[in-house]
Amino acid sequence: GMPERRQVAVFGAGYIGLVTGACLAELGHQVLVRDIDPEKIRLLRSGEVPIYEPGLGDMIAQNKERLTFTLDAQEALDGSEIAYVCVDTPPSASGDADLSRVWSVVRSLEGTSHLRAVVMKSTVPVGTGSRVRAALDAAGLRDVGYAANPEFTAEGTAVRDFLHPDRIVVGASDEATARLISELHEGVVGPVVVMDVRSAEMVKLASNALLATKISFINEIATLCEKTGADVEEVAQAVGLDHRLGRHFLRAGIGWGGSCFPKDSEALRQLASNTGYHLQLLSAVVEVNNVQKRRAIQKLKEELGSLVGARVALLGLTFKPGTDDMREAPSTVLAARLLAEGAEVSCWDPMARPAETEPWTSTSRYATPEEAVEHADAAIVVTEWPQLEEVYWAGVVRSMRRPVLFDGRNLFDPAAMRALGFTYLSVGRP
Ligand code: UGA
Repeated sequence: GMPERRQVAVFGAGYIGLVTGACLAELGHQVLVRDIDPEKIRLLRSGEVPIYEPGLGDMIAQNKERLTFTLDAQEALDGSEIAYVCVDTPPSASGDADLSRVWSVVRSLEGTSHLRAVVMKSTVPVGTGSRVRAALDAAGLRDVGYAANPEFTAEGTAVRDFLHPDRIVVGASDEATARLISELHEGVVGPVVVMDVRSAEMVKLASNALLATKISFINEIATLCEKTGADVEEVAQAVGLDHRLGRHFLRAGIGWGGSCFPKDSEALRQLASNTGYHLQLLSAVVEVNNVQKRRAIQKLKEELGSLVGARVALLGLTFKPGTDDMREAPSTVLAARLLAEGAEVSCWDPMARPAETEPWTSTSRYATPEEAVEHADAAIVVTEWPQLEEVYWAGVVRSMRRPVLFDGRNLFDPAAMRALGFTYLSVGRP
C-alpha cells in the first residue's frame, strides 16, 4: 500500500542533513530542515545549495513543497513526529568526538508534544545512544523512541547511495521505533537490518575502519610492487575477483582523506583506548596512510634532485572527485610539505574552495590544469577528476620546465604518458 507520510525535522543542513532531508522529501515525507547558520538557511530558502553534491540541487528543487528550511528549532519540531540528528561531531582536542552539537539538539527537544522518535544519523561513539536515552527520560520524553541509523552514503554519490543503499541499519531500543524508522524508508531499495543501538553504532565505525584498512593494505602492497617489479593494478584486479575479498576500495594511490575516514579511525581508536584496549590494526592503517604522502614527496625529491625553487603543480585538491570538500584532503598535506621543502606550489581544482589559511595562501590557483602546469618542474595528480582525462597532455609536456608527472591516482597508462615524453611516476606500477 501507500507508505505513510510523516512530518520529519532534520537538525543540521550539512552534507548528511541535506541529503537525508531531500531524500526523505523525495520519498513523500514533509521535511523541515533546521540549521544554526543563517547564511546556509538564507541560501537554501532562495533555492541555492551551500555545498556541491551531484543531484542534490535538483532533488531539493523538485521537492520544494515538502522541504522547509528554518533557523528555529521549535518551528522545525512543531508537528514533527520524528527528529533526525545530522549535526557534525568533529574530533575534540582529546581525540573523543565532540558531541556538543548533538546535546544542543537533544536539549531543544524538551517540551515537544508530537515527537515519536529521535534518530541519530551523526557518527557518534558507541554508548551515545544510552546517554541520549537518559537525557530524553530526564526531559520527560520517556515515550519518545530512539534509533541509531548510521549513514553509509559517500560524498559525490550520496543521493544515489541514500535511495539505493546496500543496507539500512536501524539500531532501536524498542520494536515500535524500529518499525517506524523502517516504514519511513519505504521506497528505498535496500534491506533494513534491525539490531540493538550499540551494535548499530559499532557497524558504522567498523565499516569505515575496514574500508580504510583495504586502502592502506593495497597501498602497502603497491610499495612492495614497486620494489619487486609487480604491477599493483593487475594484482588488485585479480585479488578483487575473489568475492570474499571484493574488488572495491583496492585502488592504490596517495592515501585516503575526507571528513569520515580520518575522523572515524581516530574515534574508534579513542573508543578502544577508553576501554583499555589498544586497536593494533587500525593504528597501522593510519600510519600507512601518513607514510603514503611522505613517500610521494620523497619520490619527487629523488626525481628532481632538490625541491628548493622547484615549481610543483597540484592537480585536484578535494579529497576525492565529485565533491567540493577539502576536509583532511591529502592535497593539504602535500602542499604544506612542498612549501616547507622550498618548492613553489601552483594548483588547479574545478570545485575546491581551499581555506584562506596556510598552506593555501602561499600557493597560486589557476583556472585550468594546463595553466597550473605551465613552466612547472613537476605535476602531481592528487585527485582523479575526470577533467584531467580531457587534458591535451602532448601539449602540456612541452609547456613544462621539466616533464615530471607523478600520477598519485594511477589515472593514466604509463606507456602512453612515457611515449609523450613524460618522466612518469605512479603508485605501485613499473
Ligand atoms: C566514506 C564511506 O565510503 C561511506 O560509506 C561513509 O558513509 C562515509 O565515509 C561517511 O562516514 O560519512 P567518503 O569519505 O565520502 O565516504 O568517500 P570515499 O569514497 O569512501 O573515499 C574516501 C577516501 O578514500 C578518498 O580520499 C578516496 O580518494 C580514498 N580511496 C577510496 C582510495 O584511495 N582508494 C580507494 O580504492 C577508494
